[in-house]
Amino acid sequence: METKPRILVVDDEEMIRDMIREMLTPLNYDVVQAFDGINAQEKIAESLPDVVLLDVTMPRMGGFELLKFLKGNEKTQTIPVIMITALNELQVRIEAIELGVDDFLSKPMDIMELRARVKSLLKVKAYNDYMKNYQMKLEAEVAKRTEEVELAYKKAKDASYETVFILSRAAEYRDEDTGSHILRVSHYSAAIARKIGLSEEKVETILYGAPMHDVGKIGISDNILMKPGKLEPEEFEIMKTHVDIGGKILEKSDSAFIQMGEEIALTHHEKWNGKGYPKGLKGEEIALSGRVVAVADVYDALTTRRPYKEPFSDEKSCAIIKEERGQSFDPDIVDAFFDIFDEILSIKEKYKD
Ligand SMILES: [Fe+2]
Repeated sequence: METKPRILVVDDEEMIRDMIREMLTPLNYDVVQAFDGINAQEKIAESLPDVVLLDVTMPRMGGFELLKFLKGNEKTQTIPVIMITALNELQVRIEAIELGVDDFLSKPMDIMELRARVKSLLKVKAYNDYMKNYQMKLEAEVAKRTEEVELAYKKAKDASYETVFILSRAAEYRDEDTGSHILRVSHYSAAIARKIGLSEEKVETILYGAPMHDVGKIGISDNILMKPGKLEPEEFEIMKTHVDIGGKILEKSDSAFIQMGEEIALTHHEKWNGKGYPKGLKGEEIALSGRVVAVADVYDALTTRRPYKEPFSDEKSCAIIKEERGQSFDPDIVDAFFDIFDEILSIKEKYKD
């Protein structure tokens, strides 16, 4: 059922209100009356009108004040307002135009003119409503699509992270079968990266890239990888090649986090003092991500069981890390690591074997 257009007539003279109602009712409008601005606001709160006919001078709240209210309010600003003035009131008209009035009617009122102006403003109002609706529909559609795209992006990202994690776990399966090592190193590294002030985007790339630091171990034979006890020098030389093998596996990717994985794989065994491998890079020549993962990786190796050793206590592990500050490790990274040591411990607890 179509609702009747609602016309609000605001005038303090009952006679004028009734006269306007009589002129408009035959056009099948729902004519509502208010005796001043405040009474009009009450009627508007009950139901929004489609056109407002407004007297200028009224007790309590006059026409200008109500006009200001209507045009300054998001819910009512598109409702057309016709101001009823005397013909010679030029100043009143100018002021009303500045406040956003849509049309005028002069006293004494002519029935044909009143009907024509109301009719034409109802058309404006219908068009405004249509546009408003259309815009709302459009916004809702855009929001829905955006949500869908974001969800799809998140799913794709989760899937690729999981794939990377599974492949990294496969590469480490022979010497570390729970996969927790790569999770811990990945979260330790992200926490340190956040502490040293890297952007959240960079932190996330490190979180996703770090699990791949040892994928090159897939190319190391069992008797070296799983040897209980210390490696012979020539065995250690072979062990070192896991870095370049990892780099080869991950090279030429377009994905930011696999590129990060490659960078980390290639640099996580470099040392701050230049005595690391494969290139013997020194200080800031070593990629920042590699310097971060180096601390995370060694801390995890120290505190967990390895084929060649029992886990060290936290005290002993921390002492070793501290000793290597400025030797194996970037001093700033070591400082950041100890600054967030509580967080490191909770990550260790969360992802324990
Ligand atoms: Fe490694």
